[in-house]
Amino acid sequence: MSEAILSIENLSKSFEGNQVFNNISFLVEPGELSAIIGPNGAGKTTLFNLITGALVPDEGKIIFEGRNIVGMEPFDIVRLGMARAFQRTNIFPRMTVLENIVITIITRLKGNLGFVKHWNSSDRIRKKAFEILESVGLADKASHQSGTLAHGNQKRLDIGVALALEPKLLLLDEPVAGMSPEERWETVELVKELWNRMKITMVYIEHDMDIVFGISQKVRVLCYKTLLAEGPPHEISANQQVIEAYLGEEV
Ligand SMILES: Nc1ncnc2c1ncn2[C@@H]1O[C@H](COP(=O)(O)OP(=O)(O)OP(=O)(O)O)[C@@H](O)[C@H]1O
Ligand SMILES: [Mg+2]
Repeated sequence: MSEAILSIENLSKSFEGNQVFNNISFLVEPGELSAIIGPNGAGKTTLFNLITGALVPDEGKIIFEGRNIVGMEPFDIVRLGMARAFQRTNIFPRMTVLENIVITIITRLKGNLGFVKHWNSSDRIRKKAFEILESVGLADKASHQSGTLAHGNQKRLDIGVALALEPKLLLLDEPVAGMSPEERWETVELVKELWNRMKITMVYIEHDMDIVFGISQKVRVLCYKTLLAEGPPHEISANQQVIEAYLGEEV
């Protein structure tokens, strides 16, 4: 078995005495495409906030590529090779689509001035930005003001911004929420294609069980303040505890 890219060890989090979850542990294998599911309020986004350093756990360790990242600043965690796309998007609405990607690339390169010199041509940055826009299906909208894009395209741009950080691990929080069924599958195809081509480890949160069971190698269920179950889709969809707790009549 290859070494985990991410190891969650005995993680607990409460807000003002209300425990969100207690003592969660799991391993993410390099190259995996996996889902986190669970009812509203189960703590899925909170888990991503902990992993990305936006929040600090009460207890536990988060080991990313062998290093405990608890207490590190979010931007330093980005530099280690982790990025996320948000449940509510995180783009600059007044900038164009292209500018959103370019500014992210420049921000990433700034930490490495030698590299910026090497890259000294804005043409190369634009070229890279266009490649990213193509990969999320937005190249033809490069000059549009981001805030005017349809919701589905704003979500795709948010994924593009995360890709511009060149992550090894990409966390996607409900990447297709609020999209029409057609847009959903288009975006799922796009995410799967990115995963295939770029070999990024991807963990996504999703409520649409057709998508979750359709594309994931592994599914983890957050429920009852714990990791209720973890396994391949066919095991999770048949798991009696998971059906009773969350899936109900859905599958
Ligand atoms: N910053 C915060 N301060 C206080 N309480 C919070 C904070 N963030 C989340 N919570 C609470 O923690 C619990 C888990 O919220 P979280 O957003 O992680 O759930 P979720 O599983 O992502 O839900 P959804 O499926 O609706 O997105 C909820 O009760 C929420 O109100
Ligand atoms: Mg959430």
